[in-house]
Amino acid sequence: MSIDERLANSQFPLPAIREVNLLKHASGISLGLGELKDFPVDDQIFEALATNWKNGGTSYTQNAGLPQLRQAVADLQSKEDGFAYTLEHVVITIGVQNAIYTTIKTLCNLGAKRVLIPQIHFGIYKKIPLEFGMEVVTYPLNDDFSIDLGQLSQLINADDILLLNSPSNPTGRVLTETELVDLASLLNQTLTDGYVISDEIYGRLVYDGIRPRSFSAFFKRTIVVDGISKSAAAAGLRVGWVITSNSVLAKAITSANASIISTPPTANQFAALPVVLGQTQNTIDGYNALLKANRDNVMGVLERLNIPFVKPCGSFYIFPQMQGILGGETKSFCLDTAKRENGVVVIPGVAFGASSYIRISLASLHIEEGMRRFEQMLLSYKRE
Ligand SMILES: Cc1ncc(COP(=O)(O)O)c(C=O)c1O
Repeated sequence: MSIDERLANSQFPLPAIREVNLLKHASGISLGLGELKDFPVDDQIFEALATNWKNGGTSYTQNAGLPQLRQAVADLQSKEDGFAYTLEHVVITIGVQNAIYTTIKTLCNLGAKRVLIPQIHFGIYKKIPLEFGMEVVTYPLNDDFSIDLGQLSQLINADDILLLNSPSNPTGRVLTETELVDLASLLNQTLTDGYVISDEIYGRLVYDGIRPRSFSAFFKRTIVVDGISKSAAAAGLRVGWVITSNSVLAKAITSANASIISTPPTANQFAALPVVLGQTQNTIDGYNALLKANRDNVMGVLERLNIPFVKPCGSFYIFPQMQGILGGETKSFCLDTAKRENGVVVIPGVAFGASSYIRISLASLHIEEGMRRFEQMLLSYKRE
């Protein structure tokens, strides 16, 4: 078959998240957002952008990124786990998606064959390794979205790549310190040649209980990916990073990413500095207070409707189990409610490998009205 024939036979389906969001009626309310779009951005980010446009902001940086930002990331991570990171351990990327992509690509180039991802997961965890021809295996979660360590221990090989995501998209689950210790103890015995990629993009958005330390504090062979997209309400600036205690691995990741992006956008890296330096913490505290109030509001509605859910403590999602009301499949409901006049956008669980669930985003300034519509549509859907 020729290239053109293959192209003609190919399909490029939209991810379910995009598909549903695109259908939104003009009068609809979105509880489908994966960013704090409606939340105010800290002025220091705008100031850093404005100042640095004319101060080198339109030139290239090094392939691994702006040295000041790499150093700030290194200092931040040293506080998490006590390792003396330097800028040699840090690679700045175009958002966390680029960080995950390049890290998996690098490990694949080094011979990694399998990627273990949580049974309920952010979609690209599966898509990226499959694009590299790697095998993807899901590891089971318990009903409370903790990791089933017994089953994981049966699955894992010494040279696997394990993706970890806490706080989680889409479940909102934050793994506790005890759970992280138990996981690390299993991995210390089993994952002797592979790595954990710990996606900590929601790490600063923890609004109930103590924020556990980075997984690198528990397991040495951890590569942390993080960024400013979520906790700075700045997804469009596209700044993320990879940090690993293995500086040779950081070099390999830099080399792989240089072929893809050359360098991350310079002015945007300056804009990320106040976030990484902790100067926007008051603003983040404000986001967390609002997310917690929204979480409590949504939990109240779900409880009244007898819909089972696990209480989220971080990120900005809640992931109720809709089997009892909608059956094993929620996508048709989500498509329908998105396109209706005065409808509401929520995301079908199939986008995360769990088709009987729905993801509701707490990142909305219209949560009460959104949930009122959700309830109304659910009740009318049941009657139809
Ligand atoms: C768990 C998780 N990881 C990574 C990303 C991608 O982040 P970025 O926008 O920084 O590429 C997202 C975005 O939704 C996410 O939810």
